[in-house]
Amino acid sequence: MRLRSEKPADRQGIRDLTVRAFADPDAAREPGEATLLTELYTCEGYLPEYSVVAEVNGRLVGHAIATRGWLDGDIPLLGLGPLSVEPAHQSQGVGTALLTEIRDRAVEHGERAIVLLGEPDYYRRFGYAPAIPSGIIPSDPSWGDYFLVLNLSTMPLPKGNFRYAEPFGV
Ligand SMILES: CC(C)(COP(=O)(O)OP(=O)(O)OC[C@H]1O[C@@H](n2cnc3c(N)ncnc32)[C@H](O)[C@@H]1OP(=O)(O)O)[C@@H](O)C(=O)NCCC(=O)NCCS
Repeated sequence: MRLRSEKPADRQGIRDLTVRAFADPDAAREPGEATLLTELYTCEGYLPEYSVVAEVNGRLVGHAIATRGWLDGDIPLLGLGPLSVEPAHQSQGVGTALLTEIRDRAVEHGERAIVLLGEPDYYRRFGYAPAIPSGIIPSDPSWGDYFLVLNLSTMPLPKGNFRYAEPFGV
């Protein structure tokens, strides 16, 4: 498996992959994650170094993106998502590799923390923990224990209200 930053020519492939990863057989419309992704590319919070693809034999099998979010409007954090793995390649370590790569890049750039909305049982293994108990409050508190944070520093994180990049709408 090879990990690398996304190139503009990858975007259609990433979008198609995202649609397949989040496909809901009961829904007629394409998943909201695909629309969100398209909007993230052109938003103020887009950070090209945090849009990472995984390839196997030159074929896209996974993608993860983190964009700029803010704590109380002035403390920069990263907001991760969507994270998509091609259904036929799931449970083979692709998601793990992408999350590790995003974390390593964030550490290298001196980022303080990554937050995301996701399944705690999956993300716990990477060190993510519920954010609300540590005082990082999402705009929708009903996210509860699904709103997670990974502290990348050795210091406690500041408390405050977190807002994702604008296309998330929250
Ligand atoms: C969730 C997802 C990104 C995981 O990527 P992956 O490459 O399949 O996962 P990995 O191979 O790194 O890890 C596999 C492990 O994660 C577990 N896992 C996968 N999805 C999980 C979930 N939703 N909840 C709990 N555990 C999960 C698997 O059971 C497996 O456990 P094991 O190592 O004990 O066998 C991928 O399945 C996916 O794209 N799903 C559809 C889209 C999605 O839900 N994205 C995440 C939104 S938060």
